[in-house]
Amino acid sequence: MPSRSVRSAVLFLAALAACSREPSARDSVAQSGAVASPAHFDATAWQPPPDSAIPNDSLGASIRRGLALVLHTADSLPAYAPGRLNCTNCHINGGRNVDAAPLAGSHARFPKYMDRTGAVIGLADRVNYCFTRSLAGNRLPVESREMQDILAYIAWLSSGVPVGEGKKLPGAEGLHTMARSLAGDAARGATVFAAKCTVCHGADGQGNPNIPPGIPPLWGAKSFSVGASMARQGKAASFIWHNMPYGAGKTLTPQEAFDVAAFVTSKPRPDSPGKEGDWPAGGTPADVPYATKGHVAYQPPALLQRANPRDAIVASPTPVKRRSGDRSR
Ligand code: HEC
Ligand code: HEC
Repeated sequence: MPSRSVRSAVLFLAALAACSREPSARDSVAQSGAVASPAHFDATAWQPPPDSAIPNDSLGASIRRGLALVLHTADSLPAYAPGRLNCTNCHINGGRNVDAAPLAGSHARFPKYMDRTGAVIGLADRVNYCFTRSLAGNRLPVESREMQDILAYIAWLSSGVPVGEGKKLPGAEGLHTMARSLAGDAARGATVFAAKCTVCHGADGQGNPNIPPGIPPLWGAKSFSVGASMARQGKAASFIWHNMPYGAGKTLTPQEAFDVAAFVTSKPRPDSPGKEGDWPAGGTPADVPYATKGHVAYQPPALLQRANPRDAIVASPTPVKRRSGDRSR
């Protein structure tokens, strides 16, 4: 077996050879990241890069645009994000917070099978689930400059994570499942809300865009839809317990987090067209607030109509049509 130093010398020479063929070798996010192979990837030590590490070239410009879009989604893309939520209101710290469904590593987790869809989907579709459900907005065309910029940002944020290894990172499964699942009580939650949340989110839950960093709305037409993961009591309780009150996460008791989550998820919010087709193979989690195959809606809130119901649906991948000539062979 070659020693480690011999092997790295060989790798170095191979890299030199590649460079001499192609003077500007680093032209993809994969190449801009640290060298990492599955055998040596340490998921507990890996850290996403800081914004200051975004390169100063065309790729870097795309990554920067993607960062701006996830930070200022509603202002930048009002036709696709008509509410008042930005991606990073939930994917805190540019998607680096491991307790808030991190985007760091997502590039190495997709394509993946999603049981809610019942199909293998790519990262662009996953982003569009958040546009249509979490932002209660419209599907962003996959071929658009803006979608490619968001994907470039997520790929860069995942620099150095080998494909397939992203699922080993902390937070890879989305919001953590709370150690003990409790039943929230919305009436008790109203008391928690008044004591711990209204100072920022307001008694009407509408937040305030003028208080830095911008306080997002928790319910109503400008907040997340019923088809968002955040509309599920257990998911909302996890997000709230880990991250809220903002700057003082992990200070509520788990029961308070479930109670206030029950209160927030009981409020009216935008509908999510097509939601009844979720979990097509069954197995809908108990706290999903709408009916699906074999599942009765859990504490469903009042629903507000969507302006463009057709644009709010991301179709599952379907096989392309075979050409008529294929059949005769
Ligand atoms: C100090 C101000 C502050 C307090 C207090 C606070 N929040 Fe937040 N909340 C925020 C901010 C700011 C964000 C967005 C985070 C970001 O963009 O980094 C947020 C985001 C959220 C979100 C996700 C985005 C959305 O609008 O749905 C939920 C849910 C939430 N807060 C619930 C709560 C609950 C419940 C409480 C009380 C237990 C609470 N917050 C207390 C400031 C606060
Ligand atoms: C209301 C909160 C919320 C908002 C706003 C939101 N998301 Fe999400 N997103 C989530 C949650 C929660 C998950 C994880 C699902 C789970 O835990 O079940 C998720 C998952 C994802 C994933 C998959 C992560 C992975 O590796 O599996 C991507 C990618 C993503 N969101 C991108 C975005 C983008 C881009 C935006 C803005 C256009 C956005 N999200 C806005 C809540 C939100």
